Amino acid sequence: MSNIAIFASGSGSNAEQIIRYFSGNPEHAVKLILSNNANAYVLERAKNLSVPSFVFDRQTFYNAHKVLDLLREAEIDIIVLAGFLWLVPDYLLVTFPQRIINIHPALLPEFGGKGMYGARVHEAVIREGRKKSGITIHLIDEEYDRGNILFQAECPVLPGDTPDDLASRIHQLEHRYFPETINSYLENLGPLSYSAQIPTDKI
Ligand code: GRF
Repeated sequence: MSNIAIFASGSGSNAEQIIRYFSGNPEHAVKLILSNNANAYVLERAKNLSVPSFVFDRQTFYNAHKVLDLLREAEIDIIVLAGFLWLVPDYLLVTFPQRIINIHPALLPEFGGKGMYGARVHEAVIREGRKKSGITIHLIDEEYDRGNILFQAECPVLPGDTPDDLASRIHQLEHRYFPETINSYLENLGPLSYSAQIPTDKI
């Protein structure tokens, strides 16, 4: 049994797909939605799907224990980043080793890294004349977009595509593959032990 927390900053269409995919699953469940954006539509989706949510500001996220306390209370085993735009702090990387999964809307290692998010990714792919793009589902480490890749899927970039056209093609791939990739990863994962001490310099 794994409990999942989803971090999201925006619309949350992936978060919704993941919640729906696991609802009624006896093994795994989405227990919590966390966001840095009080106006994010993902909060509305969470409410409609009866998943508790929590909004934090920068200070709370980077300098306080509140987020960690919430994750512990909900006995979260794995964190899913579904359109989450802030860098994940060390204390979460240390507490959730190999247990933070991100989705990136391009074929890493290309078109990743600092500043590469949302429409910028698709603009860059089109500007460089690529014939294909896709999705990458990967674990995260200290550097964004660099951890072990769990899954990739490709789609074409068509002549005349706008960034929005490409984004919607990529969203379809994400919705199709993100929940099941999480599910497969969970099959080989036991519950998280919170007993490990977090070094104080990581908090
Ligand atoms: C997705 O394209 C994801 O790859 C990226 O942010 C977008 C989030 O979309 N990291 P949504 O909020 O799930 O609709």
